[in-house]
Amino acid sequence: MSTTSTPSSTHTRVKSAELFEEAQRRFPGGVNSPVRAFGAVGGTPLFMERGVGAHVWDADGQRYIDFCCSWGPLILGHAHPAVQERIMKAVADGTSFGTPTRLENELGGLILDHHPFAERIRFVSSGTEAAMSAIRLARGVTGRSKILKFDGCYHGHVDALLVKAGSGLATLGTSTSAGVPEAYARETLVLPLNDLDALEATMKQYADDLAVVAIEPIPANNGLLIQDPAFLQGVRDLCDRYGVLLLFDEVISGFRVAFGGAAEYYGIRPDVMAFGKIIGGGMPVGAYAAAADIMDHVAPVGPVYQAGTLSGNPVAMAAGAGQLTECLKPGFYEDQERRTRLLVDPILAHAEASGYPLRIFTRGSIFWLAFSDKVHIRRSSEIDPDSMAHFSRLHAALLERGVYLGPSGYEVGFVSAAHDEAVIEEAVQAFKGALDAVFG
Ligand SMILES: Cc1ncc(COP(=O)(O)O)c(C=O)c1O
Repeated sequence: MSTTSTPSSTHTRVKSAELFEEAQRRFPGGVNSPVRAFGAVGGTPLFMERGVGAHVWDADGQRYIDFCCSWGPLILGHAHPAVQERIMKAVADGTSFGTPTRLENELGGLILDHHPFAERIRFVSSGTEAAMSAIRLARGVTGRSKILKFDGCYHGHVDALLVKAGSGLATLGTSTSAGVPEAYARETLVLPLNDLDALEATMKQYADDLAVVAIEPIPANNGLLIQDPAFLQGVRDLCDRYGVLLLFDEVISGFRVAFGGAAEYYGIRPDVMAFGKIIGGGMPVGAYAAAADIMDHVAPVGPVYQAGTLSGNPVAMAAGAGQLTECLKPGFYEDQERRTRLLVDPILAHAEASGYPLRIFTRGSIFWLAFSDKVHIRRSSEIDPDSMAHFSRLHAALLERGVYLGPSGYEVGFVSAAHDEAVIEEAVQAFKGALDAVFG
């Protein structure tokens, strides 16, 4: 573990502030993805300069234990040798060819040989592209146009998925972003999670028009909305009954809670899957996968068009192959879960003993801090927006103590293989101190 000092209460963000000022003249809001702007927690975003293992260093030279991990891809931590060496070798061999490469076969093989439900895969360049392409595939296979998503699930910035429930009992969506035509949004039905009756009624009504039900089986973009396995199985059963395809968006949960993601974790078979994050080892990658007869609808075999100049990029394939090879080692996921409990349990015990209103929900190595007394939070509507003020204060107190969380209380945290017991013990002490500072 590095001996660099952690930030004290006098720690500075002078360099980050300078860089942010410059960035604001260059990029909308100073960022290239909105949540990075610290809008939800206030203050200046930290400009990170480097990362090793569980730690990152900002432009002012301060070290943080990182639980953001690039929003999930870095399941081995930063600059893991098994990933870095593969990247270096791939870069030395040339960064892109626009032809098939052996590296695509390697990463594709690693995934298909060890995933219980994926038979064919197509690599793309982001999770958004994966979800978008999976939706097009489902529409192409079924010849139907409507899609159904759940309130509280995020599937990237795909037009048809930037949609929220309409008013009242109407299930037809309305767009959540300017620039998404209402006509597109109306092709998307939106339902609350954890409500099989609503799903059945909607499926009955739209069965002839509905191509696909899309869900994050472990919704992790609006808090961590852990679903009752009976609900997930119920979704599967209703899709079978009404002849609708089931899309598991495993961009976060895939290769995170088990190698085969939530599908393996819960033993539920999706028809189509979207992947991203971990499979690229920190490089830009996404993928969609399904049984062979479904994937055979994709061009050049079938009529569903989808292409990409940098799809299957060799550097990204090499990074992903390096990372997934580590994930396949025996006991990897059990150890991830064990160290996540080592982090969470003492923090919860401290909060409970001190009477602080904290709950931490976890699945595998994903965790989410909720300021609530609810035993289950299964829908985004069950999150109290006022509780976010607690998160903002805790976020600031943790930064002061050298712990970096994603800058929004709706975002989850990730434990990586590099968060060893010493790092976790240090983080636990920082959490206790931060909680005392906020609630004590
Ligand atoms: C479940 C899920 N699907 C899709 C996406 C979009 O992936 P990307 O940001 O790589 O486009 C994300 C991103 O966080 C996600 O969490």
